[in-house]
Parts: sequence; structure tokens; C-alpha cells
Amino acid sequence: MQVFEELESEVRSYCRSWPTVFEGGSGSWMWDEDGNRYLDFFAGAGALNYGHTHPVLKRALLDYIEGDGVIHSLDMSTTAKAEMLRTFDDVVLQPRGLDYKVQFPGPTGTNAVEAALKLARKVKGREQILSFTNAFHGMTLGALSVTGNSFKRNGAGVPLAHTSAFPFCNYLEEGSSIDLLQALLGDSGSGLDRPAAVIVETVQGEGGVNVASFTWLKRLAELCTDHDMLLIVDDIQMGVGRTGPFFSFEPAGIQPDIVTLSKSIGGYGLPMALTLLKPELDVWEPGEHNGTFRGNNASFVTATASFREFWSDDTLATSVAEHGDLVHSTLVDLASSHLEAGADTRGRGLVQGLVFEDPSITKAVCREAFDNGLLLETSGPDSEVVKLMPPLTISTEELQQGLDILTRSVDTVLAKHRAGVAK
Ligand SMILES: Cc1ncc(COP(=O)(O)O)c(C=O)c1O
Repeated sequence: MQVFEELESEVRSYCRSWPTVFEGGSGSWMWDEDGNRYLDFFAGAGALNYGHTHPVLKRALLDYIEGDGVIHSLDMSTTAKAEMLRTFDDVVLQPRGLDYKVQFPGPTGTNAVEAALKLARKVKGREQILSFTNAFHGMTLGALSVTGNSFKRNGAGVPLAHTSAFPFCNYLEEGSSIDLLQALLGDSGSGLDRPAAVIVETVQGEGGVNVASFTWLKRLAELCTDHDMLLIVDDIQMGVGRTGPFFSFEPAGIQPDIVTLSKSIGGYGLPMALTLLKPELDVWEPGEHNGTFRGNNASFVTATASFREFWSDDTLATSVAEHGDLVHSTLVDLASSHLEAGADTRGRGLVQGLVFEDPSITKAVCREAFDNGLLLETSGPDSEVVKLMPPLTISTEELQQGLDILTRSVDTVLAKHRAGVAK
């Protein structure tokens, strides 16, 4: 660990929650240099939906590298990119009746968001973007300006302007934020400048596993149409099957104008990001938004293999729904046996949260789970939510094993907490 303390910036964070040196991973497991094995309920913050080193994706990547396939190409045309685009259209977009042009920004989520915001402002010729409480969209300035967390926002060091934050679904009462928006947008005296776009997550992953109802999302989409605003769905963490379907917005019956994807879209944990735009919005001039690593061909290859392997039928989506139910019912039982700690649950599909009133309990549970071989992240503005995000490919036995460790960890931490309080 010494080398990291000596040479790496203080900005590092996950390594502080999990103080060991990881060496490898396979499926739902990681192991460290000392041979300790960890069940991974973190899945690269959503970048490893198909688990670690999936054999089918690995084979495709190794074959490509062995054949001296192009690795780096900016936005030149390559065989790997052609196959990725065609497969994405055939396997993902067309069966869902979706018609999007694909933009490759730099290969991170925040890049896809920057491109979406720029494009919306260019198309509508307006500055204002609406975002939501507890949203997280990335760490570059545009993405930060639509992010809620004040600690992250303060890091910008400059004013974050031309955006307005509104209450997310259930921040107040469920539909009230849409009623408020509707009233303000319809009132020429409200002081709200007409926005170019609204950016929203269907489930706020970083912001506390806050779930938007399908009705709320549908009403939001209607509001966008009525007031000539573009709807941007940031599906960077919740897309690629995390909530069940490929796109998290599918069950809401909406078709966003712009969709951002990253994290698991590259398939193998390799960097890639996409900004999907309705064809009529494609008003970019050549090179108006670019990035040296937007043509990461290794990611094109593993993405193509992942579409074929996991999205040619609904096996994966069905398994996510079933496993999501198992996680949810376990958490409901756990929460109801710890009502004294203000325990509660949230989630959809294979992103589920266990909330405690006191964030120190949440942190202690994650630490106890780590000591027992389970990787769990916290989420929410005060890290008050234990966030469960196992790989979508996890087996039922592995899932149960992780849930058993979580249950034991919660019991241990709360017993210690009660003993401490009683003293
Ligand atoms: C919804 C959402 N948008 C954007 C981002 C930013 O992605 P990246 O960290 O790859 O820039 C994240 C990252 O957690 C995210 O969850």
C-alpha cells in the first residue's frame, strides 16, 4: 500500500474503503495479492455488468489483438467500428423501435454528458438546462453544473451557471415536482428562462438509489414535448441492463431525444461512451465536438461481442428481474427487522439500496462486509445508502452468498451499535 500513499494523489477514494491490493477478477469475483477472494457487489460502479473478464468477450478481444486489428483511430472508419454500429442497430435499437444516430465522444460518461448538453443548447439556441436534486452526471464543468452534490460542485472552483435544479420524483410528494415545473413553464411571470433541455436519470445511482416512477418519467417527457425542450436521459449507470431492459427508460414508454451511455457499453470494462441523438438533432459540424480516444477499437470489439452474447434474446433481462426480486425481498426482510435503525429499501432490477438513518451505520456495514469478503459501495448525499450492484451475470448461489454476508454484517454492526448506545 506504501506506493499509493507515497506516489498517488490524495484524491483517490475507493482504495480507502477497500484497503487491499487487487490482482485479478473473474465473473463475480475479485482477488487480492494475498489470495483473499471478494464477491463483487460493486461491479466497477456499473462498468462491469457482465462481470470480470467474461470468457466470450475476452476471446473476441484476444483474437482481435492477435490479428493486429487497429487499436486507436480517433474517428476514422474501421472494421471494428462498422461491426459495432451495425450490431448495435440490429440487436439493440431496431428491435426496440428506436432510431438514433450514434456519436462517439471521449470514452467517459462525463464526456457523453458534455456532448449532450452542448448539442441541446445548439439545437434549441437556449442556455438553460433543467436538472434534478441529487442528480449525478459527471465531473467536468458542464456535467457538474447539472449535478446536485455540493462537495463535487464546490470542486469546480468557478460558478456553475445556466442550469436550474428541480425536485426529483419523491423528493417531495411524487408528482409535485412535475406540477411545479408545469406551473412555472406555463407562467410568463415565473422568472424561469425557457430551457433547452431537461437531463434526468431514471434511477439516481450515485445520488442515493432514488427511483423515478414510470408515471413521473412519462409526465416529464410530455412536459418536454409541450414546452419544446429536449429530454436527455443519462443512462450511463442504469442502462445496459442494470434495471432489467437494455435501456432503463423502456418500461416508461418514453423515447428520449438524447441518451447518454458509458460504463458497461464497452462490455469488458473497457472505456467507451456514446451520445445517442434523434437523427433530426444531428446539427453538429464535423469536428465540433471531438476527443483523441473516441475511437477505442478494443471497446468496439468487446461491445459488439456483448450485444450478440447478451442482447439477442431476453435471457439476461429476465434473470435481472428475477434476481432483482430476490435482492429486494431480502432487503425488505432485513429492513423490517431493523426498524429501530430507520432501515428502508429502494431500487429497481439489480440496483438496490438499503438505507440507514445514521450514515455511520451504512459505512460500518460496508466495512464489515469487506472484512467478510463482499465489496459494497455507499451512495447518497451523506453516504447513507448501502448500494448493491452485482454483475448482471451473477449466479443465484453467488447472489445468495453475498446477501448472507450482508445480512450477517448488518446484524453484527447493529448489535455493536446497540451495545455502544446502551453504554
Ligand atoms: C448517471 C451518471 N452519469 C455520468 C457519470 C459520469 O461517468 P464517468 O465517471 O465515466 O465520467 C456517472 C458516473 O458514475 C453516472 O453514474
